[in-house]
Parts: sequence; C-alpha cells; structure tokens
Amino acid sequence: MIRPVLRMGNPRLLEVAQAVSVCPSPALDALVADLLDTMRHLDGAGLAAPQIGVSQRVVVFEVKSNPRYPEAAPIPLTVLVNPVITPLADEQVEDWEGCLSVPGLRGRVPRYRHVRYTGTDQFGEPIDRTVSGFHARVVQHECDHLDGILYPRRMHDLEYFGFEGEVAALRAQTEQG
Ligand code: NI
Repeated sequence: MIRPVLRMGNPRLLEVAQAVSVCPSPALDALVADLLDTMRHLDGAGLAAPQIGVSQRVVVFEVKSNPRYPEAAPIPLTVLVNPVITPLADEQVEDWEGCLSVPGLRGRVPRYRHVRYTGTDQFGEPIDRTVSGFHARVVQHECDHLDGILYPRRMHDLEYFGFEGEVAALRAQTEQG
C-alpha cells in the first residue's frame, strides 16, 4: 500500500527508531511491502520506515535507471533490517542528495566513500556488504533516518542547498571541481 511520506518538520522524523525484535514476521512483511510500494510510486532511491511513520529500524533501497538519479550506477533491491554501518576509511566525499521527506530540494552532503554494512533482510538472512560511491551514500542517507537525521543536518555549506529546478548551475560547478 502506498503510504503518505512525512516531511521535514514533522517531529516523528527526529525520533531514534527501535530495533526490530522479531524477524521474520507478518507485520515486518507488511511494512516492507508498504515501503517498496511507496518508494517506487515516488521514484525514490530509498525509503526508511520512520518516513512513513513507523519507528522501526528498517530501510529499503534500489536504484535501477532512476529518473531522479540518471547518472547513478544500479543498486540491487535491498531490504535492510537493524542495519549497522562501519566506515572503512576517514575519507568523505560531497555530492548532491535529495530526500522524499524534503521534497523539491537538493543539497550537497558529505558522506564516507567506503563503508561496510551489516544487518539482515526481512527473512532474517544476514547481509554483509562492502560498498563505495553512490551505493555507500544511499545506505548512509537511509540509515540516518533511523537515527532521526535528515540530510540538511549533515551539510557543511548551506550555499549548496536549493530547489531542484534552480541548482543546475551549482551542480555543474561542483561536479567540475
Ligand atoms: Ni531521505
């Protein structure tokens, strides 16, 4: 079922979500189905349970050829329960992000370039991946939602924050450099 996505300013987006204690479960299956329906309906690269008002540590992400991220390499459909992210180096890179809870806006956000992430899928099967680049960025963005953090709080320079239709020149400038 497609669910409404909470928008920045809603205090529920600031909560630290609770660990999933039973996995698998029918309730978890229903939550994951709603997350996937909602993400795909909105052409999102990912979605976290708190964004649909469910305070549980569950995220989903998938990048095919996404019209909102035309330059991004594909990421397989992933359902991640109780995720843990470990940066593999101190190096951070800045790039542009959007968020379904911050509609219409884009900002340049620093993220770790290389991370390992672990957790399980919705069936309780372990996931353990080492990723970099856009995949690493998406995981960090989605898991931040589980700790009540929206991407503007990660930004160093609010000069590089603006409406999708307006930031093309800034993007071109930052992508050259
Ligand atoms: Ni988001």
